[in-house]
Amino acid sequence: MKTALFPGSFDPVTNGHLDIVSRARAIFDRVIVGVAMNDDKSALFSIEERKEFLNAVYGGKDGIVVESFTGLLLNARRDFKATAVVRGLRAISDFEYEFQMAMMNRELDKEFETVFLMASPDYSFVSSRMIKQIVMLGGDVAMFVPEIVAQALEEKRKNRKIKE
Ligand code: PNS
Repeated sequence: MKTALFPGSFDPVTNGHLDIVSRARAIFDRVIVGVAMNDDKSALFSIEERKEFLNAVYGGKDGIVVESFTGLLLNARRDFKATAVVRGLRAISDFEYEFQMAMMNRELDKEFETVFLMASPDYSFVSSRMIKQIVMLGGDVAMFVPEIVAQALEEKRKNRKIKE
C-alpha cells in the first residue's frame, strides 16, 4: 500500500491543488492531504475551515484522506507512514524553493522522498495568494476554486476580513 502525503497551507484550497491530488491518486493507493498548522497569523482561514473545504470535496472519496499536522513535515511523513511527499510544480519559479525543501528534508531524513507532479497548464497560474487578492479587489474566482471556497471567500470579503 503506497501512501503519498500532499502537504500545504491550503489557505484556501484551489482547483490547482485538486488537480495535483487527482494526479497523485492515480499513482498512489492513498493520498493524505495534510494541512500544515503553523503559527502563521496572516492565514485567512482557520485550520478547521481549510479542512472543512477539503472534506467537502473529498469526504467519502476512496483513497483520499484529509489530515492536519504541526511541526516538521518530515515527522508528519513518518507519522502518516507515507512513502513519499507530493508537491506540485506550476512553473520554473516554483522549482528553486521546492528543490531546496526536498534536499533539506532528505538530508535530515534519508528515507524522505519528494515526488513532483506538474500541474495542468489550466492551473499553472493559480495560487491561493492571488485568489485572495482577486477577491479582495472584487474579482470573480469561481472558475479557480471549489464552490464552497468561492462562497467562503465572498463571505470574508463581505465581512471585510479581506479588505478592499
Ligand atoms: O502550500 P505551501 O505554503 O507551499 O506549503 C508549504 C509547507 C507547509 C509544505 C512547508 O512550509 C512545510 O513543510 N512546513 C512544515 C515545517 C517544515 O517542515 N519546514 C521545513 C521544510 S524544509
